[in-house]
Amino acid sequence: MCGIVGYIGTQAATDILLSGLEKLEYRGYDSAGIATVLEGQLDCIRAKGKLCNLREKLESQVNPSRIGIGHTRWATHGKPEEYNAHPHTDTARRLAVVQNGIIENYRELREGLKERGHEFRSDTDTEVIPHLIAEFLSSSSSISPSPLLEAVRQAVNKLEGAFAIAVISADYPDEFIVARQQAPLVIGFGKGEFFCASDTPAIVPHTNAVLPLENGEMARLTSLGVEVYNFAGDRLKKSPRTLNWNPVMVEKQGFKHFMLKEIYEQPGVVRACLESYLNDDWQPESKNSPINLGLSDELYRDLEQIQIVACGTSWHAGLVGKYLLEQLAGIPTMVQYASEFRYAPSPLTPNTLSIGVTQSGETADTLAALAMEKERRAAYCQNGNRPSFQPRLLGITNRPESTLGQMIPNIINTHAGIEIGVAATKTFVAQLMAFYCLALDLAYRRQTIAPTKLEQIISGLRQLPAEIEVILESQERYVENLVHELAETQDFIFLGRGINFPIALEGALKLKEISYIHAEGYPAGEMKHGPIALLDAKVPVVAIAMPGNVYDKVLSNAQEAKARDARLIGVTPTNDSEAADTFDDTIPVPAVDELLSPILTVIPLQLLAYQIAAHRGLDVDQPRNLAKSVTVE
Ligand code: M6R
Repeated sequence: MCGIVGYIGTQAATDILLSGLEKLEYRGYDSAGIATVLEGQLDCIRAKGKLCNLREKLESQVNPSRIGIGHTRWATHGKPEEYNAHPHTDTARRLAVVQNGIIENYRELREGLKERGHEFRSDTDTEVIPHLIAEFLSSSSSISPSPLLEAVRQAVNKLEGAFAIAVISADYPDEFIVARQQAPLVIGFGKGEFFCASDTPAIVPHTNAVLPLENGEMARLTSLGVEVYNFAGDRLKKSPRTLNWNPVMVEKQGFKHFMLKEIYEQPGVVRACLESYLNDDWQPESKNSPINLGLSDELYRDLEQIQIVACGTSWHAGLVGKYLLEQLAGIPTMVQYASEFRYAPSPLTPNTLSIGVTQSGETADTLAALAMEKERRAAYCQNGNRPSFQPRLLGITNRPESTLGQMIPNIINTHAGIEIGVAATKTFVAQLMAFYCLALDLAYRRQTIAPTKLEQIISGLRQLPAEIEVILESQERYVENLVHELAETQDFIFLGRGINFPIALEGALKLKEISYIHAEGYPAGEMKHGPIALLDAKVPVVAIAMPGNVYDKVLSNAQEAKARDARLIGVTPTNDSEAADTFDDTIPVPAVDELLSPILTVIPLQLLAYQIAAHRGLDVDQPRNLAKSVTVE
């Protein structure tokens, strides 16, 4: 939520800041702005709306400044207007601040600052920060290591909430200061130039040497180097690490949208997961698990229960995970919305594994739920209770370098590569793969799966990439035809059962978030308990019907919808005459084991949502009101 960038070095800062913001626009696009320092003056330019508006404003300017900060906003406090756009400045307009996060105590700080004569020009929580820094600067006698650093340090110690900030000052033109508390911030190390950003895509075009700041850390960036401190002012010894990325990964590579490119990357994503976690030479008679996730044995010992916390699409992946963990490994599993779990946690149970699923590794609710779980379990054990209640945490993420990665030692990296489209696609499939691996590993260790079944599933997993390719190759024929007829529809229903119920939810979410069409996902058997009242000829029903346990049930639920005149679209294999008779239209998927089918059935639903949104001329990659990583509560 909101993206911040900063630069100091040898090149003109404006271009670097703008290209950095472009890479972060997925984090918010309500307004954008940059501030630079030139010849002792602060220059701050902001524009409402997307980055292109800011670009236009800057076009006529020649600004050779070599230091600057920038921001792209997802509005929390204050409307998306230019006067609320970042950077925000102090009363004298000598220093500027960009922020990602929320300052929870901004009201009281603002009142105090106003009483002391500070002039406010926005409705944001952020604006208290430049005023506080200015106040500390004017009262500070510190010269070492830098008055600006010291003033920022004092200011951040007054702030409550989550924030990542970057600060420049016209009076200190050779440095900028950054600080982090519960919101991501990465520093990039170039040759004689240094960067900061909310996320690495803004940095990788310049350097692969990065240092993610941790909570309670701040840094001073000059053209000579980076000094890292904690909020108490102690200097810390930190070294950058090398990112295994290349800038091409954050380009569209000929696709019209990032989302389409990411949908097409899915065969490769599944292959990468298999290569990372499947033991190549495994045979049913082998004495070891077919899966190697590299997790500590402590996580698995005497496991009695699993609880999964996540939001949005990651929550849907958690539901598929529950199905697999219960049906394959026989472990009772709960799936909680992180935002609900934080305020109404389930009673503590012994030998419980808590899994946080978050592609970004930065979702505030998921991180807070995991932190709470860790804390309450540790406190319970410290009070002399049984050690079996100790926290056991596992993270499933696409960004092991994220806050989640720093917080939890046991991580399953989903290896999907950076995802730019706001609607999650390839990272969802990668999360499902992580759950297949985890459930199979547990099933093997607990001996809850027959060797032949295990072999069958492993061989099925290996065939998935080619099967996804088949779906992608045939999509134009099936999905595009439908799109012309359905693009103006107002309501959609998605039905699924068993392991494909979460896929119905995911299909509905994809359609809602990028095409703005109302859609609901239901377990097919629940329709007759109420939602069936919604059906008529104007409401298309997309039903996922994969041969297996609930195939006949889904087909008969689909018939119930058909009897109410609904147009029935089946995501189903083509080789069954009953299905062919049931559905008005079919989007075919290969006939695979029902247990593996979610990896395939979600693909046509992603394509359907994408094609409808694109046909409606909508901004597929940056849908309204959304942001890729939700770093506020
Ligand atoms: O980064 P996370 O996986 O924690 O994000 C969770 C949700 O915000 C995310 O899945 C959201 O629902 C996406 N827009 C779905 O496409």
